[in-house]
Amino acid sequence: MLKSTEYGKDVCVKGWVRTHRSSKAVDFIALNDGSTIKNVQVVVDPTKFDEQTLKDITTGACICVVGTLVESPAAGQPSEIQATSLEIYGLCDNEYPMQKKGQSFETMRKNAHMRLRTNTFGAVMRIRHNMAMAIHTYFHEHGFFYFHTPLITASDCEGAGNMFQVTTKNLYDLKKDEQGKIIYDDDFFGQQTSLTVSGQLEGELGATALGAIYTFGPTFRAENSNTPRHLAEFWMIEPEIAFLDQEELMDLEEDFIKYCVRWALDNCRDDLNFLNQMIDKTLIARLEGVLSETFVRLPYTEGIRILQEAIKAGRKFEFPCNWGDDLASEHERYLVEEHFKKPVIMTDYPTAIKSFYMKQNAPVEGGTPDGASIGYKGCVAPAPTMQGTDVLFPQIGEIIGGSVREADYDKLMGEITRRQMDMTHLWWYLDTRRWGSCPHAGFGLGFERLILFVTGMQNIRDVIPFPRTPKNAEF
Ligand code: 4AD
Ligand code: MG
Repeated sequence: MLKSTEYGKDVCVKGWVRTHRSSKAVDFIALNDGSTIKNVQVVVDPTKFDEQTLKDITTGACICVVGTLVESPAAGQPSEIQATSLEIYGLCDNEYPMQKKGQSFETMRKNAHMRLRTNTFGAVMRIRHNMAMAIHTYFHEHGFFYFHTPLITASDCEGAGNMFQVTTKNLYDLKKDEQGKIIYDDDFFGQQTSLTVSGQLEGELGATALGAIYTFGPTFRAENSNTPRHLAEFWMIEPEIAFLDQEELMDLEEDFIKYCVRWALDNCRDDLNFLNQMIDKTLIARLEGVLSETFVRLPYTEGIRILQEAIKAGRKFEFPCNWGDDLASEHERYLVEEHFKKPVIMTDYPTAIKSFYMKQNAPVEGGTPDGASIGYKGCVAPAPTMQGTDVLFPQIGEIIGGSVREADYDKLMGEITRRQMDMTHLWWYLDTRRWGSCPHAGFGLGFERLILFVTGMQNIRDVIPFPRTPKNAEF
């Protein structure tokens, strides 16, 4: 409709009233149906309509307009509709919570059922849809198969133990064994099950059969992190590819994420322009910046050296960062936003802070007491490291977590034993290394973190329709 130039034609539009301005001679109604950020302007001759009907057309009301499409004399819109009939589908009184302009995002979160009707959330949700389309298109065009992994699982992929249990047991009457442990024999699955934290382990089964797969589904983490970047239920995209080495994995991460950002710039211009104007004036420049930059590929050991130099030069951080520490978001953002001023792919992390499945780097020749190892481009680390490849982004910190996988059965088993992991429920995973094991690699992109980056929104709760966070599962 907004693009049509068939002036003089009769049209019908249905939508929600954004604003209604009245004067003696003419009424203007800005109407929006959610398909775009742009409103259609409806021009009403008040002498031709019932006074009460016009009074009832308030912000938020849902109406149907029939009228004539005419060229608009006003700047910023090619056409408008001269109303011949107005029908009210749904009234909207002044208790409507989205009525006022300039409300805080926090207030809107309390009304998450209605916030979708605002301009900002409309823009974010349309971009979210577009990013999902970009992701499926990218993988389809590159020969990946969309592979569905289970949401209910008996294994803990990341080994962090922050899983939500799934049970049909009567919680008021739990059977326990002599040691006080809950007996799951009579539970629905006959064993303890949870919601998955990642589809990777099953994804590896797919990749070692189909060559290249990706998952795209919800994942669940019961970590009590009340931060603007964590959700208890978030969507993750996890490609897994046979015969890929570390360099190729980083190439894929970079190419994939740039494709998504380019897709947004090519397909979501109106919404991005709106967000650039209303939320973050540097948004579009930042998106274009990412496309023009080559991501830095930085071994963890080198990253720690840079951070320690910064500390020596007087830079203050809240958390320590010595070799072996898990980097905090402030460290990641220092490297990306202040030091390199471009995205960073960090490689070769200390074994102790990463997951059991990552490929172990070779020890330095002759060995050392601390197990010094050699990583990407010959970088020597003082202790054992693994071929992780996380992508760190401006404003966000970690957006992708990935790695080459340990394909050697004995090395993998060694790490599992060292960690004293219970592998009873992962026997099938180990079988990939027993029969026809192959070098392979993959990563996980946090969908909402991508949406945060692409929209310039500040809080992850505002880029998913109905966020799940500690103490919050209302809508
Ligand atoms: O780094 P993570 O934990 O990696 C994995 O789960 C691997 N199994 C992925 C793989 O190699 N197939 O998580 C991957 C990404 C993170 O980089 C982050 O973007 C996102 O998932 N993420 C979260 N997003 C929102 N809320 C949370 N609580 C998140 N935890 C991780
Ligand atoms: Mg991670």
